[in-house]
Amino acid sequence: MDAFELLLNRSSFGKLEAPAPSKEQMELVYRAALRAPDHAGLRPWKFLVYQDEHALKKLGESFLEAKLKQNPELPEAKQQKALNMPFRAPMIIIAVTEYQEHKKVPEVEQVVSCGCAVHGMLYALQALGFSGYWRTGDLAFNPYLKQSLGIKPSDEIAGFLYIGTPKVRINKPDQANPEDYFFVQ
Ligand SMILES: Cc1cc2nc3c(=O)[nH]c(=O)nc-3n(C[C@H](O)[C@H](O)[C@H](O)COP(=O)(O)O)c2cc1C
Repeated sequence: MDAFELLLNRSSFGKLEAPAPSKEQMELVYRAALRAPDHAGLRPWKFLVYQDEHALKKLGESFLEAKLKQNPELPEAKQQKALNMPFRAPMIIIAVTEYQEHKKVPEVEQVVSCGCAVHGMLYALQALGFSGYWRTGDLAFNPYLKQSLGIKPSDEIAGFLYIGTPKVRINKPDQANPEDYFFVQ
């Protein structure tokens, strides 16, 4: 695929179905993530991968448990929604910024680097004919979820990257006008 065809047309798809990329294809996706710009080579990232029914089911249970800890009165419909959330795609990667103390690299730079890693995965997925959808929502900031997934309180969930095959044909995205965002000084 032409590099600019990809760069100018990356887009997200929420409706994702099986198949997920193969092990070999995911190896490329992982490598794309690991080429993220990274001040001082800290690699302040960790990625939790959920790629089979059992893992997705357990993740849904963790979602529900974390939500119930925050709100024991959570209505039944919302409980079901939490349990089903991971099944919106055949695979999910939780991207985590693992902060590292460094006198020249503040936390914000480490979050940006983790975001670049997710962006790299989105491009790699699209290049392979798959797609992804980057989500956060309240669960990304729920301390009980971090605890149950073994994420340190000081680290951050940068997002849930839902991965799969787009259900609908990928259309060309709208293009923003560079003149609205780039100002030659
Ligand atoms: C950090 C981050 C968190 C996001 N969280 C959500 C989310 O929770 N729900 C959602 O619908 N879109 C979310 N988005 C936006 C989508 O991933 C997507 O970028 C947006 O719908 C625009 O589509 P596009 O990527 O095709 O331009 C998030 C994006 C970023 C960068």
